[in-house]
Amino acid sequence: MTTPPVDSTPDVQPDTELLARRKAVLGPYSPTFYTTPLELVSGEGVWLTDVDGKTYLDGYNNVPHVGHANPVVADAMNEQLRTLNLHTRYLNNRVVDYAEKLLSTFEDRLDRVFFTNSGSEANELALRVARQHTGNTGILISDFSYHGNTTSLAELTTGIHVAEPIGAHVRPIRIPDVLGADTDEGKLLDTALAEVDAAIASLRAAGYGVSAFLFDSLFSTEGLVVPPAGYVEGVVNRVHAAGGLVIADEVQSGFGRVGTSMWGYQMFDIEPDLVVLGKPMGNGQPIGAAITTQALLEEFGSRNVYFNTFAGSPVSSAAGMAVLQVMEDQDLLRKTAELGDHIAAQLTLITATNPRIKSVRGRGLFFGLEIVHPDDRRTPDPAFTRALVEEMRERGILISRIGRHDNVLKMRPPLVCTREHADLLISTLDAALDAVNEAHLIAADDTSHATERIDV
Ligand SMILES: Cc1ncc(COP(=O)(O)O)c(C=O)c1O
Repeated sequence: MTTPPVDSTPDVQPDTELLARRKAVLGPYSPTFYTTPLELVSGEGVWLTDVDGKTYLDGYNNVPHVGHANPVVADAMNEQLRTLNLHTRYLNNRVVDYAEKLLSTFEDRLDRVFFTNSGSEANELALRVARQHTGNTGILISDFSYHGNTTSLAELTTGIHVAEPIGAHVRPIRIPDVLGADTDEGKLLDTALAEVDAAIASLRAAGYGVSAFLFDSLFSTEGLVVPPAGYVEGVVNRVHAAGGLVIADEVQSGFGRVGTSMWGYQMFDIEPDLVVLGKPMGNGQPIGAAITTQALLEEFGSRNVYFNTFAGSPVSSAAGMAVLQVMEDQDLLRKTAELGDHIAAQLTLITATNPRIKSVRGRGLFFGLEIVHPDDRRTPDPAFTRALVEEMRERGILISRIGRHDNVLKMRPPLVCTREHADLLISTLDAALDAVNEAHLIAADDTSHATERIDV
């Protein structure tokens, strides 16, 4: 579908009574997007409909990877739900079929899978595997990132507000950004890798050693930072040389999101030891995974009884299999690469004439625009970025914002997005940029909301 499934209607305030009831039971801290939260009631493909019948192009959500309410996924889940859904202590062909299919999308050496229910759970497990394998506890992490909500992950969370302090065994490192750098790429690379050397030395000196480097291949929470060529490889080599494991968190960058490859880490010349999957895996059905090697699984499995009631259930496996099937049938990887090139070109055109935009970021179907003050392009403008996200919602398109300064527009539609959808998003964005500019919604540089961040 390339046009909204129903006619757009004027914006209406959502049910404030529902919001009050929500706050009464979930508390006021459970985040919602937008100044006035959006109450959505249905979806189809890339379209969402709110309680008042207004439709929105979904330029934000990556969980409905092959589209909202995808009938292939729904039918597969429904059929399995009506047949059998159980924990994993019985044999079931759905689960094994899916594990085989999923593993066939990786290099041969990554031939084992632990199923989980979420990205957090998979990262937690990956850290456990790394600790036990290396005998070390030290962790290298980007200094502005998010990998999940468990206790050990909270202790390495640098990109959103959590009460837990950064663990003594954690060394946050700054991911260098070629798009924002004043120095040349070579110097940037050398300085950044020297920081990694220092972090590893410090972990060793403190007696923690190196257990893992955990990273998101798109550096998305960071604001879709683009490291210099050779940086990721340099970190991985150093971590391996120090005896640590490398965990590629593909919760954001996996399942063809980057277009050029199925997995984001394949953009680099590296061999991760564990690969963590989540969000898009079941098109909304909770399922995650840690993919690893036979040797690491054997080592962990022989030392621990690892049981996970819901993980990789027949229904979740049916959902996961259907996602891979739709991706194949609709050739979504190739289409994502092509559409990504088109979007990059279009966004670059807008950038050329708009002093508000400093850089175009991302690839495949995950894009960012870095928004700055037009009269001082070194200064991020989070207030303008927020206003733009709100304006886009008014105009019927959902996007969000990310980055250290909360000034990078986040555009990450379901993979069934077409060129027509993308063009609608970009032309609306162009108009919204002008409208927000004209409305003089430009506040002074504002970083006070950094701890209110709700998007990762
Ligand atoms: C990169 C990354 N890793 C892990 C997670 C955690 O996944 P989940 O919310 O499924 O636990 C997220 C969630 O936003 C994420 O963005």
